[in-house]
Amino acid sequence: RESVDELINRLLVTIEDFPEPGVHFKDLTPVFADGPALRAVVDALVEPFAGTFDAVAGVEARGFLLAAAAAYATGTGVVTVRKAGKLPRETYATESQSEYGSSTLELHTDDLPAGSRVLVLDDVLATGGTLASAAELFSRAGISVAGFGVVLELPEMRGRRRLGGHRVRSLIRA
Ligand code: PRP
Ligand code: MG
Repeated sequence: RESVDELINRLLVTIEDFPEPGVHFKDLTPVFADGPALRAVVDALVEPFAGTFDAVAGVEARGFLLAAAAAYATGTGVVTVRKAGKLPRETYATESQSEYGSSTLELHTDDLPAGSRVLVLDDVLATGGTLASAAELFSRAGISVAGFGVVLELPEMRGRRRLGGHRVRSLIRA
């Protein structure tokens, strides 16, 4: 039987020069589209953090796919870290430098009670700007980050350095 990293490596597609020249874009949509692969990915992301979180957070947009599945699988709730202007109530907001520019992320101030523990999921860890921003939002809300989980890590971009002492689980590196 294939391991989770073998499944991902078989299914992911590399697109040259997308979204701009020189970028080798790793497209994970075929991994999400495959039932056994999606389940294996979600299970592998959750497994090291079992019992250490009260909710799962997904980062817009591709992190939402993983977070909802992980929350359902573990009987926890899901919270959304969203791009600017999407959340209707009071938010914390932080600007992040990401692989392709800067963007603002927001979190409702009261989605989770202070003291909650959250597992934060996204599809890719590149520069780490996105997840570092998410960490800052949860810190402001008094919520502790149990860890980060991503399907794909791009180690050349050294994203882990920006994530302090948090545990980071990545399923493949490319
Ligand atoms: C991509 C990817 C991660 C982030 C990783 O999202 O889905 O969220 O970049 O890059 P970083 O580690 O350098 O921050 P993107 O901002 O393209 O948006 P999307 O998920 O809405 O497509
Ligand atoms: Mg994203």
